[in-house]
Amino acid sequence: MNPISPFRLIFAILFIIGGAVVAAQASEALTKIIIMSAFGVAALAIMALENRTPPQPDINALERQKKRLLYEGRAEAYQDVIDPITDPILLIRNAKVAAANPAAKNFLGHHIIDEDVRVAIRHPAAADRLANPNAEHTGEPILLVGVGSADQRWELRIHALNDGLKLVQLSDQSSRYAAERMRTDFVANASHELRTPLAAIKGFIETLENPDAGADEKTRTRFLQIMYQEADRMQRLVEDLMSLSRIEAEKYQLPSEPVDLAELVSDVKNVFLNGRSKKDHDFQVLLPDNIPMIQGDYAQLSQLLHNLVSNAYKYGHRGKPVSVSVEPNRNSSMLRLSVTDQGDGIAPEHIPRLTERFYRVDKGRSKSIGGTGLGLAIVKHISERHGGRLEINSELGVGTTVSVLLPTIKS
Ligand SMILES: Nc1ncnc2c1ncn2[C@@H]1O[C@H](COP(=O)(O)OP(=O)(O)O)[C@@H](O)[C@H]1O
Ligand SMILES: [Mg+2]
Repeated sequence: MNPISPFRLIFAILFIIGGAVVAAQASEALTKIIIMSAFGVAALAIMALENRTPPQPDINALERQKKRLLYEGRAEAYQDVIDPITDPILLIRNAKVAAANPAAKNFLGHHIIDEDVRVAIRHPAAADRLANPNAEHTGEPILLVGVGSADQRWELRIHALNDGLKLVQLSDQSSRYAAERMRTDFVANASHELRTPLAAIKGFIETLENPDAGADEKTRTRFLQIMYQEADRMQRLVEDLMSLSRIEAEKYQLPSEPVDLAELVSDVKNVFLNGRSKKDHDFQVLLPDNIPMIQGDYAQLSQLLHNLVSNAYKYGHRGKPVSVSVEPNRNSSMLRLSVTDQGDGIAPEHIPRLTERFYRVDKGRSKSIGGTGLGLAIVKHISERHGGRLEINSELGVGTTVSVLLPTIKS
């Protein structure tokens, strides 16, 4: 019994007093009694209503009902179990959908309940196993292609439950298949990139074997020069491929050396100025004093900066300087290492794809200036291994800035 609230008690007493006042107005004794009794009953009703306990669910009865449903193999018994699961789940009986969780209804449509399962999941590979009551279910996945959007890949598993009820689980494997496709595409692309210079080298060897062409000194020198360039291209490609696989293999090992980016920038600057007969003003450096150290792999970070500077020279304008800057963020938790050129820039639609292996905006231009198409893929992997983030900002006709944000060592 709930206690009566004081507010309601005062209200009932006032009601009785009010009743007495009204009854006092009446002239006959019987009328007075009738009025008082009516107000008394009403006051009691007010208190009784307050005092009524809300109906409590009978937990034991619910448990018993659920056990009965489970025992009978009824689909409703599983509803509260399948509802929170994010993969689409269906329960089927006699080839009809008996229950479905919200994920399944969103994916296959809200009309699927009571529908034939072969209509709900239109797929020949699954139809027989779903509808055949005698089919054996080992939980082996069935691959579904063409269910959902064209590039989605689903795996369907069937489990037998009680009394002819079957549980059908769909799991989205699209990202796994996309990764697998990327791997096979990569092998095909790499082989193609290697085959082109190899074919050129073989062609020139065959020509030089011919006594007429081979004997001519000028032709020989020219052909050997091309062969040398092609062999060089193959070497760069093989080196980049090896780098990429090494960096990928170390992906989950956090680099541990403390690295001073000021020293790194100065080392890379020297390599460029010495190796490419550049002048000091071709390579501008903007470095604040006392920048914090970062935890890194010196050789990899040097390769990262080398690739960015090399792109800035290759795709920048001759005679316009390339600038490298290091900037801490507001609380010095990250350092922004940026390389800026004043080249033609990159159209926005290409930017998201630049870190894909072998993706180039202008394939012919990249190849003619010795690009492998792997530079930014390597940069992305090195930056990820360092817990960093890559940002590419570019404006057509103005230039490009590629930045890598790297976490500093916490002091
Ligand atoms: N600084 C830049 N300015 C303009 N385009 C760039 C720049 N950096 C990269 N790119 C574009 O991105 C593509 C991929 O770069 P990268 O992976 O380094 O390969 P590549 O070997 O071709 O330089 C390049 O082919 C080029 O089209
Ligand atoms: Mg490059």
